[in-house]
Amino acid sequence: MCGIVGYIGKKQAAPILLDGLAKLEYRGYDSAGMAVYNGEKIQMAKATGRLKVLSEMTYEGETLPGTVGIGHTRWATHGAPTDSNAHPHFNETETIAVVHNGIIENYMKLKKKLEDKGYQFSSETDTEVVAHLLDYYYKGDPLEAITKIMHRVEGSYALGIIFAEHPDVIYAVRKDSPLIVGRSGEGSLIASDVPAVLKYTRNVYFIENEEIARLSTEAIVFFNVDGESIEKESKQIEWDIHAAEKGGYEHFMLKEMNEQPATVRDTISPRIKDGEIVIEELGMGDEEIRQIDKIHIVACGSAYHTGFTSKYVFEGLARIPVEVDLASEFRYRNPILNKNTLVIIISQSGETADSLAALRMAKECGVTTLGIVNVVGSSIAREADKVMYTWAGPEIAVATTKAYSAQLVAQYLLAILFAKVRGKIDAEQVSTMLHDLKKLPDQIELLLSHKERIQKFANRFIAARDVFFLGRGIDYAISMEGSLKLKEISYIHSEAYAAGELKHGTISLIEEGTPVIAVATQNEILKKTISNVVEVRSRGAFVMAVTTEGTAEMEKTADYVVYIPQTNAYFSNSLAIIPLQLFSYYVAVGKGCDVDKPRNLAKSVTVE
Ligand code: G6P
Repeated sequence: MCGIVGYIGKKQAAPILLDGLAKLEYRGYDSAGMAVYNGEKIQMAKATGRLKVLSEMTYEGETLPGTVGIGHTRWATHGAPTDSNAHPHFNETETIAVVHNGIIENYMKLKKKLEDKGYQFSSETDTEVVAHLLDYYYKGDPLEAITKIMHRVEGSYALGIIFAEHPDVIYAVRKDSPLIVGRSGEGSLIASDVPAVLKYTRNVYFIENEEIARLSTEAIVFFNVDGESIEKESKQIEWDIHAAEKGGYEHFMLKEMNEQPATVRDTISPRIKDGEIVIEELGMGDEEIRQIDKIHIVACGSAYHTGFTSKYVFEGLARIPVEVDLASEFRYRNPILNKNTLVIIISQSGETADSLAALRMAKECGVTTLGIVNVVGSSIAREADKVMYTWAGPEIAVATTKAYSAQLVAQYLLAILFAKVRGKIDAEQVSTMLHDLKKLPDQIELLLSHKERIQKFANRFIAARDVFFLGRGIDYAISMEGSLKLKEISYIHSEAYAAGELKHGTISLIEEGTPVIAVATQNEILKKTISNVVEVRSRGAFVMAVTTEGTAEMEKTADYVVYIPQTNAYFSNSLAIIPLQLFSYYVAVGKGCDVDKPRNLAKSVTVE
């Protein structure tokens, strides 16, 4: 997830690009760059770090004179956050400049083909492929070259493109990554999101999939993927600037919850190729995977909860014993690690102090370490022997939602891959699981669309003092995350309990009206959880159950039932967590809490 902008008009482009990028920094901020046509050629400036560095380096854009340009603020996916990987990217003759948001899934294949034809690459990005491919197809007509590359490139992209030979126009292209264009009195603009253009216009066109816009100072015209002219209607934006940064959502947390279908899709889909799981950056051979005799999953907070779920998945599918540890415990407990142990560190930020220390300790013991990390180029990503990225984009709300969901599916992929390589599942089982995995984004979307029902229910619990979450197996892991979400943002005391353990103490806390949330998605142990629900209800608890469609038994037992769609039992966390996130969010909103920045908490905990 990156931010892109473009401008063509009567004013100097660079200051407008910088201003737009500042509004898009929430989309990524590890490096930034601009390309501006100066009357003779395209001039480029790029800098690692926050946008401020680029702004200072170019004297607020003064060193890049010209009225036509494109800009980018990056959230690294392919290649570390460095100057050379920052966008824009040039073709070799520096006559075509490209900015990109998204992931080109077949970039390795395209890169190889272009290299065979003599093209030289100067970055590790997937985007540079687009610049060279445009060069390859460009024979004087930019539109023709663009439509040709759209037929070759797979994955998601929003592109801003300028051609030195056609300095009177800029191009915007989109597939599965957001892009808007708009006109002000003095020119035309491209942006990834509305806030970047609101200062200049409220009248914007939303580019749809596989559409192209050609912008000039006076007009914007649109084409389809075959280069045929199409008509589009503009939309009037009513939001104020502040609301627009959150895409019209009241809080970043709500926005990020709604981004989960895309996040899960982005983390899964580039890794499924011709029915096989291919995790390009992982670099683990089959023999190495076969030799693993134990896995330690180590993490903090919600990342730890994803590990708690994937213990069941790795053990169930790949039959490898798994221990799950809080990083702050692991680093001081002198764990038994041998040469065939794999230590998996999970971290959104890649900078959490305890997780990083645990990683270093494991490395000192000589075992292989694997980081599952969201921030490319972060300490854990750099220091782990192996890395797998979650492609969730920047998460702003302190309480994680979309990074959590991405971490879960990344681990499902890894577990299926390990199971297949170790001969524990066959090709048909893999295919059925991949089919279920691919359905998750739409199923999450469906659950999110029922938010009003959860909101209505949550309103009843604004005054609650204690809430208990119950579940067994994976449902217990889901309960742990549901409970954490609630307490961290609403300040209501909550506890997650393994449902069978209830009788050994916690049940004494249940009294008339105590809210209990029972998670029961695992068919094999459903009856057991139902018995525990009966026990708490008969002591006065008010029970909401989260269970799978087609499970009628819960209807008779709980006070309120939320259904999740059918999926493979190992993947149920990805669906069951959605109503629990929504529940916590609406309770916190109802209580008037600062949802995005809960008291005493920080997004990245870089102290012990
Ligand atoms: C903080 C955040 C949590 C996160 C945890 C671990 O407590 O509020 O949302 O799960 O840190 O962070 P990491 O970046 O390592 O995933």
